[in-house]
Amino acid sequence: MSYLIEAKHLSKVFKDKESTVFKKKEIIAVDDVSLTINRGESVGIVGESGCGKSMLGKMLVGLTLPTKGSVNYDGNEISKLPYSEIKKLRPRLQPIFQDADSTLNPKFTVKKLIEEPFVINDISKSDANQRIDELLSYVNLGKELYGRYPHEISGGQRQRLGLARALSLKPDFIVADEPAASLDSSVQAQILQLLNQMKSNHGLGLVYVSHNLRIVSMMTEKVNVMYLGSFVETGDTQDVFDNPVHPYTKMLIGSVLTIDGDKRKLGKTKVFGEPPDPKNRATGCAFHPRCDCCTQICKEERPILKKVGDKNRFVACHNM
Ligand SMILES: Nc1ncnc2c1ncn2[C@@H]1O[C@H](COP(=O)(O)OP(=O)(O)OP(=O)(O)O)[C@@H](O)[C@H]1O
Ligand SMILES: [Mg+2]
Repeated sequence: MSYLIEAKHLSKVFKDKESTVFKKKEIIAVDDVSLTINRGESVGIVGESGCGKSMLGKMLVGLTLPTKGSVNYDGNEISKLPYSEIKKLRPRLQPIFQDADSTLNPKFTVKKLIEEPFVINDISKSDANQRIDELLSYVNLGKELYGRYPHEISGGQRQRLGLARALSLKPDFIVADEPAASLDSSVQAQILQLLNQMKSNHGLGLVYVSHNLRIVSMMTEKVNVMYLGSFVETGDTQDVFDNPVHPYTKMLIGSVLTIDGDKRKLGKTKVFGEPPDPKNRATGCAFHPRCDCCTQICKEERPILKKVGDKNRFVACHNM
């Protein structure tokens, strides 16, 4: 079976500004991550701030090239394509970020911004107008904003405009990185419903990045828990949320008092310790300085993802 997206051994390393000729320092944002996404499948990525979620998402849609590893999209090795070729695939591969500002040309009016994807892709005016009306009602944006520039509308309106643009050409793969974070809950629900509809009606593949574990648990079928650039636990979302295995996953999920009402009461553990520094990764298991179950091997040897149990669960922990 061919995957919609197949990422193998992805790493992204930055040179730290504090580097000197004598001492080279690196920031390892993503560290040897592999994952696959099928058509019509949604996959969550969760983890603390700075663990590499956005960087991974950017590599999956070809916005950033990996330092190592490959991303294959529907037979195209996008991690090796020049920018001009990736641009041709852009209507099909869409990022949606919380900060929509960076994708909106400040010199364009709302009208021009909403029409731009259709113009670039030679879509007829009547088809475009019909789709634009549909999109504006989905994201709850009124045409009275048409004459304004991005800085003349609110942050939430800019975000909805960014979303409408991303969804305009019915992409088949979306990385949604905190797409609903600054929206009020009714619009948030509409957006999530829209993404779900696209998933079931158009076979959209979705990577959903969020700190909101409740939304991830509702929106995704599989989840990857990330710690300091690597996956520490992956599996079916329901299963991982009901029965987290890695000490970090337990800590992360335990920090949410209740998820989904009474069903998943895991609220005992608190997230403790400082989020780690990607410039100073601990030896062995990166999580060991914060782990309750740390033993000698955890300080020395890096654990790799291993299958645990009879379900689709992989965990990187020596104490399994
Ligand atoms: N251009 C860059 N140069 C150097 N370091 C970077 C660069 N971009 C990101 N980083 C670092 O890479 C790491 C991962 O960043 P990333 O944005 O992927 O985190 P994240 O998991 O999305 O965090 P958040 O939840 O806060 O959005 C961070 O330590 C960040 O500081
Ligand atoms: Mg991020």
